[in-house]
Amino acid sequence: MNIKAKNNLDTTAELLVLGLWDDDTDLYNSINPTLSEDIRQSIDSKILERGFGNVFSTKLKDSLYKDILIITLGDKKDMNTERIRRVMSRIVSYLRKNKYKSFTTNITSLVSNKKSIDIVSLGRSCAEGLCLSDYSFDKYKSKKEERSEIIASFQIEDASNFMRGVKEGIIISESTNYAKDLVNEPSRIVTPEYIEGEALKLANKNTKIRVLNRKEMEKLGLNLILAVSSGSDKPAKLIIIEYNNGGKDKYTAIVGKGITFDSGGYDIKPAGQFADMKCDMSGAAAVLGTIKAAQKLELKKNILGVIPACENLINGSAYKPGDIIRAYNGKTVEIANTDAEGRLILADAIAYTEKNYSPDTIIDLATLTGACVIALGYYASGLISNSPELVRKLSKSGNDSYDRVWELPFFEEYQDNMDGDISDLKNMSVKGKGREAGAITGAVFISKFVDLEKTKWAHLDIAGTAFLPESREYNQKYASGAGVRLLTYYLMGN
Ligand code: BES
Ligand code: ZN
Ligand code: ZN
Repeated sequence: MNIKAKNNLDTTAELLVLGLWDDDTDLYNSINPTLSEDIRQSIDSKILERGFGNVFSTKLKDSLYKDILIITLGDKKDMNTERIRRVMSRIVSYLRKNKYKSFTTNITSLVSNKKSIDIVSLGRSCAEGLCLSDYSFDKYKSKKEERSEIIASFQIEDASNFMRGVKEGIIISESTNYAKDLVNEPSRIVTPEYIEGEALKLANKNTKIRVLNRKEMEKLGLNLILAVSSGSDKPAKLIIIEYNNGGKDKYTAIVGKGITFDSGGYDIKPAGQFADMKCDMSGAAAVLGTIKAAQKLELKKNILGVIPACENLINGSAYKPGDIIRAYNGKTVEIANTDAEGRLILADAIAYTEKNYSPDTIIDLATLTGACVIALGYYASGLISNSPELVRKLSKSGNDSYDRVWELPFFEEYQDNMDGDISDLKNMSVKGKGREAGAITGAVFISKFVDLEKTKWAHLDIAGTAFLPESREYNQKYASGAGVRLLTYYLMGN
């Protein structure tokens, strides 16, 4: 993506993109009266309805541009950064469909005159909209779509602040697209060892990587991770990325579920529910993507990325329902269901993180429960936390980045949902039919491995948001990179 900004339109671009507010009456007479007449006629004939996001294209004789695209911007007071991303996604679709390489637009200058979006955020959301839309996972396609680099030229007065935002937006979306690649790649390639390899690539002068292998985990008693991994030939890894660029500040730990394939184990999933389970390492991908973004943005923070990575498969050594395992923190867990494996590996990873690094905040991300998909669908990740302040900040980062979260209750009444009878805990609800409040119950289990008096903790269930059933705006079908924008915005602002 090649993004430029200047005070006027770039007459060398192939495509001119013009914005039109609901209440615009001057229909570009100043640019070209024929264009104005063209637009007026299409409005009259309802081809171009006002409102947000409708597009209309026209070609003019003797124009400097090959083509003109008009996008309706809706009501001025409703303009926001998400609408900007969506406008950009329409531009990318149009460019790709018509095989144009370059465009120039006045939309940024129209929006900046309104002053409802600050210029840095405007630049950031333009870049995000373009780069996120322009992603495609086509490496396994023999016939690939032709895709030359897009050259974008934005008309804007304060080009320097705009370009500051653009730089951030490019970093954030490239890191998101990187996470999408990791999740879309089949589990035959993305093994625990592959994730380790990706983490090792992040090493630099302020980023150190430590990886605990099976032997070390046995010694340390990280038995929940080992139990989940025991049915696989591929050894488990506990990957710890230490990003130090914040002086003496305590760590913010981000912990991502890294199940590279979830068969369910002996509580095997029904046929048809396996296919997408390569996505069960989306939390891990979000951690790697966020650390990548933090490095490139040179965030002045200390961030700890933690990834327990393994497969949940079945063989003669696999863990079984009824097994009782002693966790790293000493608690015993009876395995009520081998498909509730995410909470097990997170429990050990989080307890280890807290004990050895004393972070002041722990945020875990996991494709943890089908129940969360039922509750919230694909448009918000479930959020559960012991800290109202953290909920507020994550909600704001979610709304600003549009990688949104929705809080679920952490009421006292849920806290004994997993009490064991012959063990300290079970890994599935013991209440009612066992499936009620599934997303909350999963979070409650994890919370038993955090010192809630000492540490601010938030759990993000990204089961619905990380892997999408269809494309929408700038998100493609399948991996979305959920969590990268949310966490990066959070880390940038706090
Ligand atoms: N990885 C799944 C959850 C999942 C479901 C992720 C759909 C993405 C899309 C998780 O390990 C799982 O199987 N959870 C069980 C928990 C239950 C057995 C308590 C579930 O949600 O059914
Ligand atoms: Zn599972
Ligand atoms: Zn899982």
